[in-house]
Amino acid sequence: MNKFIYMDAAASFLKPQAVLESEGDFLRNRYANAGRGVCERAAAVDDMVDKTRRFVAKFIGADADSIVFTFGATDGFNRIVNILKNTPGMLNKNTVCAVSDLDHHSFRGPFEMSPAKTIVCPLDKNMDIDIKRIPCADILLITAMSNVLGHAQNVKKIISVARKANPNVIAIVDCAQYVVHEKIDVKKWDCDFMCFSGHKIGADTGVGVMYIKNPKRFSPDKFGGGMVAKIYGKKWILESAPICFEAGTLPITQIAGLMPAIDSLIDKRPDLDLIKYMYDELDYLKQIKILSKRDAAILSFVIDGMHPLDVGTILGVNNICVRVGNMCASWIHKYMSVSGCVRLSVGPWNTKSDARAVIKAIKKIVEK
Ligand SMILES: Cc1ncc(COP(=O)(O)O)c(C=O)c1O
Repeated sequence: MNKFIYMDAAASFLKPQAVLESEGDFLRNRYANAGRGVCERAAAVDDMVDKTRRFVAKFIGADADSIVFTFGATDGFNRIVNILKNTPGMLNKNTVCAVSDLDHHSFRGPFEMSPAKTIVCPLDKNMDIDIKRIPCADILLITAMSNVLGHAQNVKKIISVARKANPNVIAIVDCAQYVVHEKIDVKKWDCDFMCFSGHKIGADTGVGVMYIKNPKRFSPDKFGGGMVAKIYGKKWILESAPICFEAGTLPITQIAGLMPAIDSLIDKRPDLDLIKYMYDELDYLKQIKILSKRDAAILSFVIDGMHPLDVGTILGVNNICVRVGNMCASWIHKYMSVSGCVRLSVGPWNTKSDARAVIKAIKKIVEK
């Protein structure tokens, strides 16, 4: 069988050996629930969760009490809407939420579907959130890196400008793509919430991270086991943060894989010279229009007169896995007047020979 080339890291990362080993060992030899047991084995799981929380906190420049484990970025953004709805005065029909066309459906969708009114932050000619035209809003959504364009936003600057218009603005950052390529620093950014998914950095599916700057300000969105200290009739005394935001059994197996995933990522990030190489190889072909920048983390393009699904299918037949379509980011496609595109995104496993093979296959399609 020919070699299979997986160039769809932005959809989901392949798993490093250390993650497989850590989860395998946890399931085989160390498994117990967290936050419930008193035996030594259960206490060791509590320690593992605690250690991972502190490790994740360090990774994003936060305090451990601000780290809540979720089931993924989409789960996190939906939960933020419910947390804000449950917290008096935070999200109702009078709330103005500024979004942008860079946003993924998972990020902007929960807010569009909430009682809040959404307004759109304009983009500038570089396809960045236009710092000069950030509207005054109660909530501000910032996609730190679009999953179609793959270049980073100046999150710190955007938040500082937004706070000049409204010092109390709730700034929420989507780091689902950004976390793979750039250092997150939530304290420097001064954001209120930030989310990413484990599976996009080499950890398992079903685990994510939600950062809450000041968890004491907010009411939990879920109720259940593990988060209640005492119940007096209708009155529930909840555990302090972050535990009060973690009702029910955590995805403990997936949490066991989070630390080795982050370690592996820090050790070897995707080689973005491969993106530059492929950009240069495709840029001069007159049938191809590249939508992303040369120094971006992602290469998105369209081929004149060809549907992206057809391109993806032909590449697929050639054992090349890429993402095609609107990537759950229909607003940016509409903004660029295309219905979808082909996206190449590399992981640490991709080599120059993969990039050469992908370019050869695309040129063959274009030349037909
Ligand atoms: C920018 C961005 N935000 C949010 C998401 C949603 O992530 P998940 O599906 O892991 O919840 C994605 C996934 O592709 C993404 O690229």
